[in-house]
Amino acid sequence: MSHSVLLLPGDYIGQEIVPEAEKVLARVCELYDLDISTDYALIGGAAYDAEGDPLPPSTLEKARAADAIVLGAVGGPAYDHLDRDLRPEKGLLRIRSELGLFGNLRPAIMYPQLVDASSLKPELVSGLDILIVRELTGGIYFGQPRGIRRLENGEREGFNTYVYSESEIRRIARMAFELAQKRGGRVCSVDKANVLEATVLWREVVTELAADYPGVELEHMYVDNAAMQLVRAPKQFDVIVTGNMFGDILSDAAAMLTGSIGMLPSASLNESGQGIYEPCHGSAPDIAGQGKANPLATILSVAMMLRYSLACPAGADCIEAAVGQVLDQGLRTPDIAGSGVASVSTSQMGDAVVSALQKS
Ligand code: IPM
Ligand code: MG
Repeated sequence: MSHSVLLLPGDYIGQEIVPEAEKVLARVCELYDLDISTDYALIGGAAYDAEGDPLPPSTLEKARAADAIVLGAVGGPAYDHLDRDLRPEKGLLRIRSELGLFGNLRPAIMYPQLVDASSLKPELVSGLDILIVRELTGGIYFGQPRGIRRLENGEREGFNTYVYSESEIRRIARMAFELAQKRGGRVCSVDKANVLEATVLWREVVTELAADYPGVELEHMYVDNAAMQLVRAPKQFDVIVTGNMFGDILSDAAAMLTGSIGMLPSASLNESGQGIYEPCHGSAPDIAGQGKANPLATILSVAMMLRYSLACPAGADCIEAAVGQVLDQGLRTPDIAGSGVASVSTSQMGDAVVSALQKS
């Protein structure tokens, strides 16, 4: 069966890491005899520069037609002065929304080789394997009304709306329960039901749905406590399900537990299994253009793509094994090298993964 993959490098280090992921995908296609065609398009600041729009219609059209998308990262200081609707981040939010990618999976897995790179003590993080399931197309990120308005007293006021419908809550919770069934069998739903009505409903709907999944243990936690527990005893979690904003914040914290946000892939899925696969990290303008970026999060995102959108779990396993192997070989980009340890460049890391790929 043939598949099409759209590559959207975006800005800054996005343009360095996506080509590494493409190399890895090409080699997996050879090994597993997959017929995957690839194409490139612009998003974010790069698209704004070329076409005055962070998500040009031509990109959206290609994205709709693709079976899956690999995205680098968007944004950077060069674009911070732009109107909100023209900012690179808006391009990302729009493509997520246009494609209906409501389910964002962010696994935080501790590679044994990197235990010393974590900011927590080895005994707290070794063997860590958490999956954060973040709702991605609703909540306060998209709620209306929103804006900055002028009050009668002349002062300005900024406002946003935190809103979730039952159906939005139910579909993301269902995804979390189903994923939990295939792994540790536990879901922790994170909310702020002691203060926010939108999350009182969240808690109710998740609790109702739990009845359909008797084999899964459900726990509820307030987001402030969840943040504390993540840095106190992260191994207590299996699957965490939460809204858009809380998921954004908690997934960065979870990423750091594993040593570097440069290691963490993600998948953003819609009802039909189409997805955007992107690293959890940003565009890192400070290290762009120097070959310092870690391509592994994007490469591991390609593994998730093979598993969730392209029906090739063996290819996914093969990439994950190759990443383990290059780490065993001691190859490190600067973010995971630790002080005094020699590091390799972005493309050296990509090449090493390609060489380590082996059909099992
Ligand atoms: C993420 C990023 C985005 C988000 C930004 C760039 C809009 O932080 O993917 O986590 O907040 O969703
Ligand atoms: Mg984020």
